[in-house]
Amino acid sequence: MAKKRILTGDRPTGKLHLGHYVGSLKNRVALQEEYECFFIIADLHTLTTRPQKKYLQALARNIYEVVLDYLSVGIDPEKAVIFLQSAVPGEYELNLLLEMLVTLPRLARLPSIKDMARAAQMDDETVPFGLIGYPVLQAADILLPRAHLVPVGKDNEAHVEITREIARRFNRMYGYVFPVPKVMIGEVPTLVGIDGQAKMSKSLDNAIYISDDAKTVEQKVRRMYTDPNRIRADIPGRVEGNPVFIYHDAFNPDVNEVNELKERYRKGKVGDVEVKRKLARALNELLEPIRERRAAYEQRPGYVEEVLREGTRRMQEEAQETMSLVYEAMGMPGAALRRALDEQLPFSLLEFAGS
Ligand code: TRP
Repeated sequence: MAKKRILTGDRPTGKLHLGHYVGSLKNRVALQEEYECFFIIADLHTLTTRPQKKYLQALARNIYEVVLDYLSVGIDPEKAVIFLQSAVPGEYELNLLLEMLVTLPRLARLPSIKDMARAAQMDDETVPFGLIGYPVLQAADILLPRAHLVPVGKDNEAHVEITREIARRFNRMYGYVFPVPKVMIGEVPTLVGIDGQAKMSKSLDNAIYISDDAKTVEQKVRRMYTDPNRIRADIPGRVEGNPVFIYHDAFNPDVNEVNELKERYRKGKVGDVEVKRKLARALNELLEPIRERRAAYEQRPGYVEEVLREGTRRMQEEAQETMSLVYEAMGMPGAALRRALDEQLPFSLLEFAGS
């Protein structure tokens, strides 16, 4: 039986961090063995909140870093398709067609859109049409390779639900083209930042990056937020909700060591310095093979581009097939005219009308 398909991806806003790693990248590396995976670098989505030229100028670098992050964590371009959204014409085409299949209030009510608008300092008066359409473009991403499964964080769940509604609507109106994709929510909760804030994020400047070197990781861990009431090592500390222990649980494979540290921490029998030193060591042990792979890829000039180029070519092929099915199901004469022009074939509206 043919493998089921997965689509997921990231906006290229910068290097990926440990939150991305535990929340999704690690999972993707496992999924690529069992599924046909498509990983999208969603540069068009970044335009919804950052259309300014200065952000466009940063895209090339950011796309490069994201592809390199993917490769270095072990995403294998022989198994998975890594592609650039804006280089696939089907994205724009399908996006517009899908826009007709969802209502404006359904989109405008979504908390995720309101959150993104607020974060970008936009209000109801200044929010662009394109940001309201964010989930529709995401539906195009998912439906273009006719994906069955979409692994995302909780914050994207509503967008996959919209995608399902749109897919059902399309299939009902025009005939079956799209599998109705299922969402796959990771069970790992959002990773806190090194400052103890709810979310590790580039914009909050509280992230440890996958590409950070060992020294940087040590420094960042050393200044991590812990239990603020524990001003001396002999004061009993709180383990629950303490970022240092959240990270130990997430990244330190030595469960005995972690349990022993927790016990001593609760009793005031271990200093933050030791807890942090052991955390930094665990993180660096995790990141070291990733760094090695990254260094190897960086030494091959043009390799990142080659991966992106081949992945995007594969996606274009896939998109073309889907768009043919879409246009045929819809009975669009424009698509027939386009094909006639491409292939220098005759074209008759009246014949098309009669077919
Ligand atoms: N919306 C995702 C984010 O929060 C990125 C993304 C764009 C995506 N298109 C997608 C995720 C399709 C899953 C499927 O950054």
